[in-house]
Amino acid sequence: MQPPSRPDRNIALEMIRVTEAAAIAAARWAGRGDKNAADGAAVDAMRFVLGGIAMDGVVVIGEGEKDEAPMLYNGEHIGNGRPPKVDVAVDPVDGTTLTAAGRNGALAVIALSERGSMFNPGPVVYMKKIAVGPRGRGAVDINASVTENLQELSKRLKKPVQELGVVILDRPRHADLVAEVREAGARVLSISDGDVAGAIATGWPNSGADILLGIGGTPEGVIAAAALKGLGGEIQGVLHPRNEQERIDAEALGYDFTRVLSTDDLVASDNCSFSATAITDGDFLRGVRFTDFGATTQSLVVRSRSGTVRTIETFHRHNKLQEFTTAGF
Ligand code: FBP
Repeated sequence: MQPPSRPDRNIALEMIRVTEAAAIAAARWAGRGDKNAADGAAVDAMRFVLGGIAMDGVVVIGEGEKDEAPMLYNGEHIGNGRPPKVDVAVDPVDGTTLTAAGRNGALAVIALSERGSMFNPGPVVYMKKIAVGPRGRGAVDINASVTENLQELSKRLKKPVQELGVVILDRPRHADLVAEVREAGARVLSISDGDVAGAIATGWPNSGADILLGIGGTPEGVIAAAALKGLGGEIQGVLHPRNEQERIDAEALGYDFTRVLSTDDLVASDNCSFSATAITDGDFLRGVRFTDFGATTQSLVVRSRSGTVRTIETFHRHNKLQEFTTAGF
């Protein structure tokens, strides 16, 4: 008989502290009309906590090139340099505009996967996306028409097209898409920002969201892939150039604007983790609340290897924390 083997380290659990710190720091700026200040505070807090984690991390998706953003830049090494070797994707605030306006739906997020397994979006800002939760996995195809996808999803979910909720970023570029979804009979759930949360909602029971469609950020697509992998859902993407020059430049670097990127192409490893903490209230998590003892947060933590999904509410006692750390969030 095999000796019993204990579950191994779940680094996703350590990532909660990273996204909690970022969310609390950003939430101090919520509703104050300054999205750069919110983002900057979240980046600082995230980087501070990440520095103490036992891992050898390389930022694949960060805050851009080093010269433009000195913090959490692409290619930066983070962690204390010990194993495991991981790729890291961060979005300290997904929904900077939402946060600045004090609107719902902003998250602090991070995804980790084994070294070399994360798709590097390079200079390609946008990606066409289709995302579904676990029950819809395998029923959609990004190259099929919207109507076909909604009909297939309807069959799979065993509910009429009229009852499907379709998450779409509210952008002029989506006018035809919105018209097509309505023509097919489904309901549009319009979001003004934050399509990582939109993608997760498709995999969240009773969120009302069944599918996400449209063009959004490529980095957000990779991060959503890590989350959906753990939740058992699926995302497909096709890179989308902003203009002809971007296409030419990116093709010269080897990017292919016709290739369908599957969930596994975006995050190849089956050992990836994802953590999100709500900055403002959302469909599946409540945002940061400041209290007389500190703050409360709600987080979602997912590990694809085990498929474990946790929601965690944390009570942060700032007076106690300050007895042994200079962390200012
Ligand atoms: P930021 O937090 O960086 O502003 O991103 C928010 C977001 O809505 C993403 O969730 C989404 O993928 C992207 O912006 C869409 O880009 P755009 O606003 O240019 O349409």
